[in-house]
Amino acid sequence: MNDFHRFELEGWNRVSISYHDSFGRLTEQLVPVLLQSINAKAGQCLLDVACGGGALVRQAREQGIDAWGADFSYSMLSAASRRTGLNYFVAANAQQLPFQDQSFHALTCNFGILHFPDALRFIGEAHRVLKPSGTLAFTAWCPPQQSLFFQLINDALELHADPAVALPPGPPMHQWAERDYVSEQLQYAGFGEIHLAEFQAQVRAASAEQIIQPIMQGSVRAHGLIAAQNVTIQEKIWQAIVEGSRRYQGDDGVSIPMAALVVVAKKM
Ligand SMILES: C[S@@+](CC[C@H](N)C(=O)[O-])C[C@H]1O[C@@H](n2cnc3c(N)ncnc32)[C@H](O)[C@@H]1O
Repeated sequence: MNDFHRFELEGWNRVSISYHDSFGRLTEQLVPVLLQSINAKAGQCLLDVACGGGALVRQAREQGIDAWGADFSYSMLSAASRRTGLNYFVAANAQQLPFQDQSFHALTCNFGILHFPDALRFIGEAHRVLKPSGTLAFTAWCPPQQSLFFQLINDALELHADPAVALPPGPPMHQWAERDYVSEQLQYAGFGEIHLAEFQAQVRAASAEQIIQPIMQGSVRAHGLIAAQNVTIQEKIWQAIVEGSRRYQGDDGVSIPMAALVVVAKKM
């Protein structure tokens, strides 16, 4: 286990209880999109890797799909079971899936891929556990110019953070939203019929002051970067994020655009 993997695991354990009602409200907007994209039939087997609070597994089961969730955080898995009342969750590292070859008709991963230290190993594992012609579908956040909530956080960090404070080095956050890179890597791993589409999600909060909840209670890297600063700096960063979010204030609260790339590919 490298430092980044350990940092991620500790982080997801920390937010396991609060994730779903904070950042999970944002990621859940992509669940119907992923389910529609795999076009799974009732009775078919689906594995949702990095399943978090289990929202995708629950919605897939409601459609009669034989869906299973896998996540490396035991705390997250127990939160998923509690939240959904289901027992279809298993502990697994995305880079070493504990399933036999050709087990699943479809494999989904909603905003998990950017957290894996070696995402190419995950892509290889996805290919291995999919049945012939099985479908892989995943999502990744577009760069901050399109994911304006990240832009706000980056701007606040740039303005106030001590650049000497660093997290364990991890993979680039937005690599899996780069169309050429994604297509190339998927083809190399044995996938074809690759479809890439952008989806516009929204971070929503009742007020600007509440916009920091998804970061505090549902994020690992963004929270880690802020929490590693001294207390005075942390205060300035939170304040800058709140102030920056005021420009997205509307009649129904704050709504900040976040673009995601939805990737769908077939095992060849
Ligand atoms: C941003 S959350 C996404 C959760 C969920 N898919 C959703 O739609 O909200 C990332 C999830 O990836 C899991 N995760 C991170 N690295 C992992 C790894 N190497 N193997 C399995 N799960 C991992 C975390 O525990 C967390 O539940």
